[in-house]
Amino acid sequence: MDEERTVEDLPGVGPATAEKLQEAGFDDLMAIAVSSPSALAEAADIGEATAIKIIAAAKKMADVGGFVTGDVIMEQRRTVSKLTTSSKALDELLGGGVESCAITEFFGEFGSGKTQITHQLCVNACRGEEDGGLDAHTVFIDTENTFRPERIIQMSMAHDLDPTEVLQKIHVARAFNSHHQMLLVEKAKEIARNNPVKLMVVDSLTAHFRAEYIGRGALADRQQKLNKHLHAILNFADLNKAAVAVTNQVAAKPDAFFGDPTRAIGGHILGHTSTFRLYLRKSKGNRRIARLIDSPNLPEGEAVITVIEDGIRD
Ligand code: GTP
Ligand code: MG
Repeated sequence: MDEERTVEDLPGVGPATAEKLQEAGFDDLMAIAVSSPSALAEAADIGEATAIKIIAAAKKMADVGGFVTGDVIMEQRRTVSKLTTSSKALDELLGGGVESCAITEFFGEFGSGKTQITHQLCVNACRGEEDGGLDAHTVFIDTENTFRPERIIQMSMAHDLDPTEVLQKIHVARAFNSHHQMLLVEKAKEIARNNPVKLMVVDSLTAHFRAEYIGRGALADRQQKLNKHLHAILNFADLNKAAVAVTNQVAAKPDAFFGDPTRAIGGHILGHTSTFRLYLRKSKGNRRIARLIDSPNLPEGEAVITVIEDGIRD
């Protein structure tokens, strides 16, 4: 990529449009190159035809969209980092931990440990790479008001970390509805510009969508919005080489509307976008069983974890 060129160098982008794009989070060529014409048109208050031209120019300047050979991909895969879950068994199931540049979905019934795992990941993201961390900050999109600094403090102390330092590296936003939740992904891009963010958490990814789009008639609309949201999240992961953990609640028993619990709400679209899907179910006491479902390169399998005061453990 040519480092010298910026958004202002794009044909048809004057200072006013550049500023609007900047405000909407389209502040580098790559972000524009991978955006859709309608999203760009809306963000910059321009016509779709102009947006198409700008995107085409950005694609050329940012040099995206070419084919590469498998050995190059293998080399790129070496730069993927793995974030530990603090459970050896769960890390092994995930092929070393939660992977960067991908979405890992934790789904299961209430109390299955989804939120606890996301808290553990926030703490671990602060740790150095030698400890399975990312040496980085987290953005946490909280839709159910379940982020608990108290838990972060407990989990930090268990790993001999300064709890205040850890809390200062977690940027939390409450999402009040699905629309707000989608906007927060754009906001997260701003935070990532000023801080080394390498983890995004969305807990819960689906609760607002589920509550707002009710009944079969709303299903297509819900899937479309959720799809758009997931692509924005994947875009965030790509731009920042960040790991993403999302949660998704499902009933323990099949129900008439959502069907088989292992086929989480969000259906096919979510299934195709999340790179790793972990189904969590309750076992005796503080034990939880995690099952890996359709991963691109890992065998299906199970890991037993426990949720204790210190956090997630084997
Ligand atoms: P929903 O958000 O309701 O769908 O559930 P969830 O899957 O997010 O569940 P969550 O991660 O909140 O797990 C809750 C469980 O974690 C509780 O039932 C407890 O067993 C356990 N837990 C939470 N906090 C603590 C704690 O401070 N100490 C211990 N020992 N266990 C805890
Ligand atoms: Mg939860």
